[in-house]
Amino acid sequence: MMPVTLIVPGGPMADLDALDKPIAGIRTDAERIGSYWPRADWPADHTVISIFDPTVWVTRFPDHDSYAAELAELILARNAENENVLRYEQEMGIGTAKLMGLDRWGHAATDRINARALAMAGVTLKRADMVVRNAWATVYQSGDWAQPHCHPGVVASVLYMLDPGEDGGRLNGAFRFVDPRVKGCCPEQMGIMSRAGAPELTPGTMMIFPGQTVHMVSPYHGNRPRITLSWDLIPKPAGG
Ligand SMILES: [Fe+2]
Repeated sequence: MMPVTLIVPGGPMADLDALDKPIAGIRTDAERIGSYWPRADWPADHTVISIFDPTVWVTRFPDHDSYAAELAELILARNAENENVLRYEQEMGIGTAKLMGLDRWGHAATDRINARALAMAGVTLKRADMVVRNAWATVYQSGDWAQPHCHPGVVASVLYMLDPGEDGGRLNGAFRFVDPRVKGCCPEQMGIMSRAGAPELTPGTMMIFPGQTVHMVSPYHGNRPRITLSWDLIPKPAGG
């Protein structure tokens, strides 16, 4: 019988206490945001923090409640009317409805959140040339989930938690990073994933992460739909 060889790459042990603490923070103001995305309606004196990995940033918008209901109503109406909706079977491991073209719906509420997603990319990636390749709203009905996947070919993905749905515990419709390149997934040894990274995506939270980072959403169960918004961003093509 062939001996089993365990491949254990070297590397420093992670600081366990540090894994769940913010890594860095960026204080933002209108001038700073305006240098990247002048049209963004961005809250004053707002902080963006890095968690799990220097490439993952989150923030929570304090005025979420002032526009969330209008956005959710718009999304659920378009879902009911089947306007540009991609539907996936739960058995395929991407059991959701994706309402495409979010950046082109032409509503004030979607224009505002689109601008914030681009501003979030600007201030964290420190570049003003990012454009939307695809943007969509995802509606999770009871039983929907997303198997581990990534978004190939994009520099950054932005996620906005519009409505987490019904509270069914920490694992209900839970977004998780499952990637050994994310430091927060590797508490025992860098590069060896031994836990899922669990960002706290409360309503109004926007997160940006590298598009190729593997992530998933555990099955959601509840009567009220879970709704998120997503943007895949790329640098503006030359001549575009
Ligand atoms: Fe995804």
